[in-house]
Amino acid sequence: MDVSGKVVLVTGGGGGIGAGIAEAFAEKGAKVAVTDISLDYAQAEATRIGTGVIALQQDVTSPESWAQVKTAVEERLGPVDVVCNNAGISLPFKPMEEVSLEEFDRVMAVNVRGVFLGCNTFIPDMKARGSGHIVNTSSVNGQLPHQTFAIYSASKFAVSALSEAIRDELAPFGVGVSILYPGLTRSRMSEGQIPGLPEEARKALSAMMMEPVWLGRAVVRAVEGNQLHIVSHPDHLPALKVRMDALYAAFGEPAQPGYVAARMPTA
Ligand SMILES: NC(=O)c1ccc[n+]([C@@H]2O[C@H](COP(=O)([O-])OP(=O)(O)OC[C@H]3O[C@@H](n4cnc5c(N)ncnc54)[C@H](O)[C@@H]3O)[C@@H](O)[C@H]2O)c1
Repeated sequence: MDVSGKVVLVTGGGGGIGAGIAEAFAEKGAKVAVTDISLDYAQAEATRIGTGVIALQQDVTSPESWAQVKTAVEERLGPVDVVCNNAGISLPFKPMEEVSLEEFDRVMAVNVRGVFLGCNTFIPDMKARGSGHIVNTSSVNGQLPHQTFAIYSASKFAVSALSEAIRDELAPFGVGVSILYPGLTRSRMSEGQIPGLPEEARKALSAMMMEPVWLGRAVVRAVEGNQLHIVSHPDHLPALKVRMDALYAAFGEPAQPGYVAARMPTA
């Protein structure tokens, strides 16, 4: 897809990676809308990027909010060609048993329900038009679960799986799907991930993090080339190999030796 002149919606665009994605599409001449639960954050990024980027308030967990955003973007920019489901939240690193049910529900609501709603708000129109692209922000933790980060990792595995499944569903309709797997990237989330970090240490860590717009440009390239996986931090490959090798090694005899597996017919 040539993204110039296309209408692009980026959720959680009020900072960090979402703002970087919005900036990269704007650089290519797309018409961009950024949404965020904080209208102030969204407006600040729209103003910083310029080039007619519009800002809207949105709660990605709310179906009503999705319907309002769809109407507003269509009225102001036109039908949405690319939706980037990027809004997400994390929890401080802590043992599983210290995570409350409310924290679990909140992470799943924003990170998984939000992506589900974002996809389903636009899939019918994209299928009908025979074109469109969905980009879902997962994480390195959507490939590699991390101890003391179980709920966030589970939510990002859900995003990866959902995205890969609908990629196959939507391909016959001319609609593409990409998954972004960021590693450490400068944002409010990553800078606030370790509360109480001394200011000097926080600054040093922040200086080593990837720039959001670099991820944004990788997203644009993936949409242009209809590429599924967007791996921005390839340094995680050795750890992923260890994980996958352990999984492959578990594929030995079936539970009952000699059993020949039944397969579900595909719909
Ligand atoms: N920064 C990283 O190192 C990193 C690494 C891996 C994955 N990610 C993922 O990247 C995405 C962006 O995160 P970020 O690091 O830029 O953090 P961020 O906190 O800067 O950006 C996330 C934005 O989402 C918004 N938001 C939160 N709840 C919302 C809701 N209910 N509805 C709408 N907007 C909401 C926040 O206000 C915020 O502006 C997230 O999905 C995150 O999980 C980030």
